Amino acid sequence: MEAVRAEGLVKRYGDVVALDGVSFSVGRGEVFGLLGPNGAGKTTTIKILTGLTKPTAGRAWVAGFDVVEQGLEAKKRIGWISSEVILDDDLTAWENLEVQARLMGVRGWRERAAELLKAFGIYEAAGRPVGKFSTGMRKRLEVAMALLHGPEVLFMDEPTVGLDVGARLGFWEVVRQINREFGVTVLLTTHYMEEAESLCGRVAILNRGRIVALGAPDELKAKYGVDVIELEVSGPVDLARLSRFGETTAADGRVVVKVAKAEEVLADVVKAVDAVKAVRVRKASLETVFINLTGATFEGEHIDVKKLYMKIRRARR
Ligand SMILES: Nc1ncnc2c1ncn2[C@@H]1O[C@H](COP(=O)(O)OP(=O)(O)O)[C@@H](O)[C@H]1O
Ligand SMILES: [Mg+2]
Repeated sequence: MEAVRAEGLVKRYGDVVALDGVSFSVGRGEVFGLLGPNGAGKTTTIKILTGLTKPTAGRAWVAGFDVVEQGLEAKKRIGWISSEVILDDDLTAWENLEVQARLMGVRGWRERAAELLKAFGIYEAAGRPVGKFSTGMRKRLEVAMALLHGPEVLFMDEPTVGLDVGARLGFWEVVRQINREFGVTVLLTTHYMEEAESLCGRVAILNRGRIVALGAPDELKAKYGVDVIELEVSGPVDLARLSRFGETTAADGRVVVKVAKAEEVLADVVKAVDAVKAVRVRKASLETVFINLTGATFEGEHIDVKKLYMKIRRARR
């Protein structure tokens, strides 16, 4: 049986279409990533799957239970970590776990809690108030709390936002551990491409409420990956001179050329443009997959050719 299944999920907030027909499934034991820029619909998807909000249309199942019709059964099998603070700083780690155990009605929780605290390396600190914990330790405690009732699927919404680089890498290890040692299926969202590439067996790339690509990171890179040469320019650019290198788009002083191998053509591309201020090369990655499929960079800048041509015309007058 699948751990998660979403079929044609639509979510509207008034005029805003947050999800526009999202379907995917996650097998047991997978680490699956929902990847996309801000506003893509990641949180909305997680909220539907965890029963926090209902879809406008479509259906979803977790561990075989319909999240709307059989919400209680589904919730028993779900652990979830929000990006919001849920820990009580005045309480110790043990006390936070006890609160969680009572909320979830977990019997004999101490043994399970000790196992989790040890696994995530915070057992020794567990008698101290959580207010004294580092961000990385807090995150580990949140994971222990989310796993306390023995869920089959763990949902994490942007789990590494706000962590510094070291803590982020440490947390990746925790995610792998959750999956390997505790056999929990993980569905996480992230807007960090490298995080998805490093952690997830498969990813769905969301853009404006739709899945634009789904598969293993390597598969997606092989299929849609391109190298991207990005030029910052200070004047008009003759795009016709660039098109022989690959598909070229431009807007607001930025030119993007999609090429097969950046290092082979970089020098010629730069030479073909007069007013280059800066050059950036992105080797094929999930990021360039996204640029290739949506025409937007992941920071949400849209490449608008019309606007550029208008600028060029104005500049020439
Ligand atoms: N409660 C809400 N009311 C109105 N619009 C919302 C609400 N929640 C989300 N949206 C909108 O739905 C879209 C998707 O949001 P969200 O799922 O939070 O995206 P992500 O998590 O990928 O950043 C965005 O345009 C957002 O503004
Ligand atoms: Mg979000």
